[in-house]
Amino acid sequence: MPERRERKALLERAGYNLFQIPADKVFVDLLTDSGTGAMSARQWGAIMQGDESYAQARSWFHFKEVVQDITKMEYILPTHQGRAAENLLFSEISKPGLIIPNNNHFDTTRANIEFFGGEAMDLVIPEGKDIHADHPFKGNMDLKRLEETLAAYGKERVPLCMMTITNNTGGGQPVSLANLRAASEMCRRYGVPFFLDCCRFAENSYFIRTREPGCGKMSIEEIAGATFACADGAVMSAKKDGLVNIGGFIAMQDAELARKLTNMLILKEGFPTYGGLAGRDLEAMAVGLRESQDEAYLRARVGQVHRFGEALKANGIPILEPTGGHAVYIDAMGLLPHIPQEKFPAQSLTVAFYEEGGVRSVETGSIMFGKTLEDGAFKPADMELVRLAIPRRVYTDNHLAYVAEVAGTIAANTSNCPGYRIVEEPPFLRHFTARMEPMG
Ligand code: F0G
Repeated sequence: MPERRERKALLERAGYNLFQIPADKVFVDLLTDSGTGAMSARQWGAIMQGDESYAQARSWFHFKEVVQDITKMEYILPTHQGRAAENLLFSEISKPGLIIPNNNHFDTTRANIEFFGGEAMDLVIPEGKDIHADHPFKGNMDLKRLEETLAAYGKERVPLCMMTITNNTGGGQPVSLANLRAASEMCRRYGVPFFLDCCRFAENSYFIRTREPGCGKMSIEEIAGATFACADGAVMSAKKDGLVNIGGFIAMQDAELARKLTNMLILKEGFPTYGGLAGRDLEAMAVGLRESQDEAYLRARVGQVHRFGEALKANGIPILEPTGGHAVYIDAMGLLPHIPQEKFPAQSLTVAFYEEGGVRSVETGSIMFGKTLEDGAFKPADMELVRLAIPRRVYTDNHLAYVAEVAGTIAANTSNCPGYRIVEEPPFLRHFTARMEPMG
């Protein structure tokens, strides 16, 4: 843990952007749950058996068999991570004039759709945008708005519909099986392919098991099976519920789409039996995808996130409730009401966490999701949140108790937290590299 003076200097050098702080200088790192999990002994054992043959390696067949078994889909393309899968898919699907609905697009998904000219439309239920609404499945799609969109534009302008499980942008909130089935059925009626962004499918399955009427006796594997049965395809960042440090895939049923994407895969990622990964990475994914469906593990994980949320609340921190699967989200406007949205209250809070306790979190407010429009007007995000994401199988409850304590100290001195202004930003995905400065 660097001294406070050093932490302040590091923040200034980093342009107050936590993505730019050296990991060595971070005491508890809750930036993301992506690729930051600890692999199991069984995964490390599998890695030692990686087959590094260029084509048709044994490890590819291990990987394919597991992904086909979970998704029941015919065509599997490995990619090095989730956004590579999105890039391939949308290089084919997204075009100017087309609309791709989702409950909430994740930032890389939105960026990939927009990069190829399409419009990324968010149709989460109203409760999903209300920090305090109590709903067991706040990630659900607003079926009425989806139907309106499909009826208005048809399959001519809606080439694909997505559903993100769990809904990361909306707070790691789950989607119910009933909602998935209804959205899927609706898309089928309009002839629109239905794809999952399934990077947290195991955590979503756990919520279905524990919260959805009629699902309490289903195993996690059965629920995952029922989930994928709704879909025509899926993109996955295996850095989440694949329990690996790198990896992903696209799965689909459509032979023609698979053929087109395979050509692009060879161009961008690698030969279709390794797709930008080493054989050993495929082995690690094959084991991790099974381990993430272990119910005892999921109970411990979702339980840890819940306990962390309770500890924060006990220290006076307003959070998005109920807590989701992979992170606790703090309501920055609730905690720092003196900072208006255009001065980025959630950004201010991420800086405070690092300055106060060496804790790294991520802003998921107007730096990440807001925009400066062409006429210079400020378009804010729906919510100003700070995400404290919990890596899988890494931290103990004690580490998180420390973070809750740091949060308590911040809450007692909120007037110390200034607003921020952006001094430098790239044309898209600005939160990774933008530089900011405090406004005094
Ligand atoms: N979809 C969702 C819902 C995600 O949460 C992520 C990544 C991706 C797609 C892209 O996957 O990183 O492997 O390219 N989320 C990470 C996060 C980065 O911190 O939430 P990727």
